Amino acid sequence: MPALVLLGAQWGDEGKGKATDLLGGSVDYVVRYQGGNNAGHTVVVGDQKYALHLLPSGILSPGCTPVIGNGVVVDPSVLFSELNGLNDRGVDTSKLLISGNAHIITPYNVTVDKVTERFLGKRKIGTTGRGIGPTYADKINRVGIRIQDLYDESILTQKVEAALDGKNQLLTKVFNRRAIEVGQVVEELLSYADRLKPYVADTVLVLNQALEQDKVVLFEGGQGTLLDIDHGTYPFVTSSNPTAGGACTGAGVGPTKISRVIGILKAYTTRVGSGPFPTELFDEDGDALRRIGGERGVTTGRDRRCGWFDAVIARYATRVNGLTDFFLTKLDVLTGWEQIPVCVAYEIDGERVEELPYSQTDFHHAKPVYEYLPGWSEDITKAKSFSDLPKNAQDYVKALEEMSGAPISAIGVGPGRDETIEINSFL
Ligand code: IMP
Repeated sequence: MPALVLLGAQWGDEGKGKATDLLGGSVDYVVRYQGGNNAGHTVVVGDQKYALHLLPSGILSPGCTPVIGNGVVVDPSVLFSELNGLNDRGVDTSKLLISGNAHIITPYNVTVDKVTERFLGKRKIGTTGRGIGPTYADKINRVGIRIQDLYDESILTQKVEAALDGKNQLLTKVFNRRAIEVGQVVEELLSYADRLKPYVADTVLVLNQALEQDKVVLFEGGQGTLLDIDHGTYPFVTSSNPTAGGACTGAGVGPTKISRVIGILKAYTTRVGSGPFPTELFDEDGDALRRIGGERGVTTGRDRRCGWFDAVIARYATRVNGLTDFFLTKLDVLTGWEQIPVCVAYEIDGERVEELPYSQTDFHHAKPVYEYLPGWSEDITKAKSFSDLPKNAQDYVKALEEMSGAPISAIGVGPGRDETIEINSFL
């Protein structure tokens, strides 16, 4: 049962697209299990660069069936424009499967996301403004709209009414906005029904049958461990579970089916949006990491906050996800520093702490305790095996592996498809 989960071990943007790409042709199904078009993968195929937000990266491999699982929230207009963009470039998207149980990001969810953030002012989360949180809130409040609802106009109308009832009160009386009309929303949603229809499937059944037939299924997490609604830096998180358990609930496969959980780990750390970030740099080093690493969001175009590698976070990711492997990305970005600081523990109110504190207050007070590892200046982008790396780069990787608690099975040494060192095969 080769079922692999591939997820971000930090705050997202670790370079998951590259890892999926490495598995490329050998995967039969690539499944998104949570999040929506707040994600952003860049996948480079040949000389073509594709930025995907909602679609699983498997959409680019001809032999692979891409699946949007029940745990994902889908904005149909974004889905269609992503499909159109790929079709225009000659990519066949006809194999895509979408769970009928996936929830729809409605126009009012997007409105509520933006209005709420504005209202929060200084305390804003820094969301992507795509309606993700409000859509998951509707799901949990049991007033969400699912893809399958598009095929029963009467039920759809009742559900939109129920969803808008309270929201319109809030929009008009608290946020001073115009009320949203039920009829208009229903009309827009119904306009998506026909085009979506061929993709809608019982994805839980499809995936479990595939696993019984020994097909290779890859579950692709969006965002990252520290943005998880349960295990991340709440409330500065996304509204779903990018951690490994999310693959089970968000795709309908049992935990006994998962054979490998791979954490994508950047050789330094980045974060977008608000929230604590102990190793964040506000100096020239931070600027250099941003510039050399191209640290700008694929989805929002926002500059990413940058800092040194944080081993406390990596250890935490190993634990909450049960990681079996790491894929270390962007090692080449660190080329040129004489010495590279690595955060090995925190100091919180004068005490050394080795593990991620569970209290938000403590985490906000955490100061990094650094160890300084010797850097390298040689170009490493042509390295094909671990032994091709300069000794100091090898030692940096070994030190990270030891601190992080799982083997580093692959290393990214450049943006290109072949600029990867494979140490242990993932399959
Ligand atoms: P939301 O997911 O739009 O609700 O945003 C919640 C938080 O998650 C914000 O800090 C976002 O910047 C962050 N976030 C959402 N998606 C991503 C991603 O793909 N990479 C990095 N950060 C993300």
